[in-house]
Amino acid sequence: MSLKIGDQLTLTIHDLAFGGEGVGRVSVSRDESRESRAEAASAGFPALDPRPSTLDNFVVFVPFVIVGETVEVEITEVKKNFARAKLLRVVTPAPERVAPECKYFTQCGGCQYQHIDYAAQLRFKHKQIADLFERFGKISREVVAPVIPCPSPYGYRNRIMIRSQWNGPAKKLEIGFIRADNNFVVDIEECKIAEPVLNEQIKEVRANPPPKGGIKVVLRVQPENWDVPESSFFQNNFFLLPKLVETVRDFLKAGGSRHLIDLYCGVGFFGIETAEAVDSFVGVEYDQLAIKAARKNAGVRKIQNGEFISAKVEDALPELLKKFSPEKTSVILDPPRKGCWPETLQLLRETRPAQVIYVSCHPATMARDLNILCADGVFELARVQPLDMFPQTQHVECVADLRAGQILPNRAQSIQLDESNGERRTN
Ligand SMILES: C[S@@+](CC[C@H](N)C(=O)[O-])C[C@H]1O[C@@H](n2cnc3c(N)ncnc32)[C@H](O)[C@@H]1O
Repeated sequence: MSLKIGDQLTLTIHDLAFGGEGVGRVSVSRDESRESRAEAASAGFPALDPRPSTLDNFVVFVPFVIVGETVEVEITEVKKNFARAKLLRVVTPAPERVAPECKYFTQCGGCQYQHIDYAAQLRFKHKQIADLFERFGKISREVVAPVIPCPSPYGYRNRIMIRSQWNGPAKKLEIGFIRADNNFVVDIEECKIAEPVLNEQIKEVRANPPPKGGIKVVLRVQPENWDVPESSFFQNNFFLLPKLVETVRDFLKAGGSRHLIDLYCGVGFFGIETAEAVDSFVGVEYDQLAIKAARKNAGVRKIQNGEFISAKVEDALPELLKKFSPEKTSVILDPPRKGCWPETLQLLRETRPAQVIYVSCHPATMARDLNILCADGVFELARVQPLDMFPQTQHVECVADLRAGQILPNRAQSIQLDESNGERRTN
């Protein structure tokens, strides 16, 4: 058959791609259906079924489904290498299917997995990460530990952003989140994954709406005993925070370094929480208000073995790496979602600190960066610990423990990324 928008078909779901969409396959007659894994990866779906797409198995992505289900769908988009469809009906539900708690689920873009039993969400996330690392980062899936669950799979988010938008045709102000299927705002009265106190604040925002659309309101629960400026970063799930700290601290202690460089340190969270494991530490962060807060946060805890530098990581790191002997130094990387600058990774490859602990909420950029660090055995990946900081959603936090590899120093070659295809070249 030739596939077009509006077609209705019945599919079996084979996999859950990163991003939460199910992967179904259909037979099509078009020539352009010949898809390669590389093409699929460039479309943003690296965790695909490894079988290449052929006439017999053209990929169709469907949201809100589960592996093993048979579903009726309607095609909404047809690309050269894949199509997208909306779910019309679940014909054969998977045993893991549960009723979502939120009445806005499937309309609101915030959650992707409320229809999946929580234990199964953890298994699917583990598989997605292991697939992603294996295929995109060329990293053995054996190093990926089971996902640590969140003790509170609902009511956990301590920060949300409420948007407002004037809906012309309906002549009303929508106050809520971005929709799942377009960039308009869906009107919401509550959020099931947000902390209860934020739901009280949502009521207040709705009772006193901004005069016109376009205004964003950030609602936040301040962490106890941490000074966090309004616009600065803080981890957004207090329930799993102790496990996140424990993981980083355990990795650091196992590394046995005397010095720690905490890069992208925010208000000093990891440096302060692990200060007693090292002789000295330095935190680097470009948000000046966060650095001021970090100094205060260390001060109230009487932590005296650390300092905080307000600078871009890429500017401060060369000097810092000269200051500490590499064999006694661990580096924490906790970059924003886009990952680290290539220059930062290159510098770490050249100086080879004993340990790099990479913390990330974006496994795809993390896999890319780990692949660069580990190329030619310059670093070896000992373990990846995923933590479910974002239940009901496609997101997951990972902490990776890398050790300087047992290679000769002159093999710590430079790596250049070939921008055209994302492959690396060694010099
Ligand atoms: C994911 S947050 C991590 C913060 C901190 N590690 C924590 O756990 O609270 C990333 C931080 O990196 C900072 N940042 C982003 N790009 C940076 C850069 N090039 N140099 C320094 N800091 C940067 C952001 O301001 C943000 O505070």
